[in-house]
Amino acid sequence: MLILGIETSCDDTGIAVIKAEGKKPIPAPEQVRCRVNFDILSNVVSSQIKTHAPFGGVVPNLAAREHLKNIEPCLKTALLEAGIKLKDIDLITVTVGPGLIPSLLIGVNFAKALAYRFNKPIIGVNHIEAHIIAAVAATSPKSRIPNPKLFPAVALVVSGGHTQLVLVKKIGDYKIIGETRDDAAGECFDKVAKLLNLGYPGGPIISTKAEEFRIRNQESRIKLPRPMINHKNYDFSFSGLKTAVLYLTRENKEKLNDEKFIQELCRETQQAIIDVLTEKTLKSAKEYKAKTIILAGGVAANKELRNQLELRIKNQESRIKFLVPEMKLCTDNGAMIAMTGYLAVKRDPDFGRGKSWQKIKANSNLRIGQKM
Ligand code: KG4
Ligand code: ZN
Repeated sequence: MLILGIETSCDDTGIAVIKAEGKKPIPAPEQVRCRVNFDILSNVVSSQIKTHAPFGGVVPNLAAREHLKNIEPCLKTALLEAGIKLKDIDLITVTVGPGLIPSLLIGVNFAKALAYRFNKPIIGVNHIEAHIIAAVAATSPKSRIPNPKLFPAVALVVSGGHTQLVLVKKIGDYKIIGETRDDAAGECFDKVAKLLNLGYPGGPIISTKAEEFRIRNQESRIKLPRPMINHKNYDFSFSGLKTAVLYLTRENKEKLNDEKFIQELCRETQQAIIDVLTEKTLKSAKEYKAKTIILAGGVAANKELRNQLELRIKNQESRIKFLVPEMKLCTDNGAMIAMTGYLAVKRDPDFGRGKSWQKIKANSNLRIGQKM
């Protein structure tokens, strides 16, 4: 089965073609298991970093304009790389939320138009679920849905727009157990980078500078807060951390041109974020008796976060498995949408009844587990 995945929820236009080879689908509500191989034939991502960099963050209307410009060329490239034509596609999948509504609408309307014009079935995909599925299913180029023995799992989804801890009872059955009350973890990286005039997106830049400090093997003298780290719930708050960095820059104006000071500040900011994320994830995994911890979303591309979380799991909860997507499947892409859409179709006994394109709607506030 050939699946087209379309992603435009934020500032990456992603279009992928994947091939799913499965034995007979297991009907809902049974677990989808060990029966599907995903082959990523193409996974084209057009980034808008240059457009948004001067603003230090994503400007929704500019993002929509860029998606509109890029979506058709991305589709052409994705089909070309996969060596197929649109008529060969068996299923269209598209992100319907959560995300920026001007961005979502471009992908959703494009996908609906394709489904209508070429008379193809289409399914809407939750972006957060797709980040989780990227970790569970994806070891490119061949991917396999692993054994249900992995569940229940706790998934830490950390991106520019979201920071959530999700209990994954099985694929398709999710409950949010904690989330950020203000800024997302990625947003905190981006805003701190903006404060320090380092550019956009902040995550990769801060992590590079932090690494330059780390390899000097020094203890950080800067101390930043670890917001909500000892609270009994699994919620997060990162806006105070950004404010703490703001005050620190005001008190140390003379050091802002000192590269070593900036590296140290980046290291401490990154470590504060990592400490809170890893602490809460491990605590929740323990409480919910998770067999697996999943790390997903754009911030999962952060090497230190990956390493430190893995190390803490090994040291503290060695029975728990750790899953994280390869780097390029951490940030937004179409392949994760295609895989998630395919699994959802296989679970839904009603899929295929009626004109599926008429049911697809963008919803910027869509929550994982919410009916679409
Ligand atoms: O999932 P994603 O591609 O888009 C959203 O759905 O938001 O995540 C983008 C976010 C940005 O905030 C970016 O700064 C962050 O992921 N990010 C990183 C790294 N690479 C990307 N954060 C920390 N370290 C990284 N290496
Ligand atoms: Zn994302």
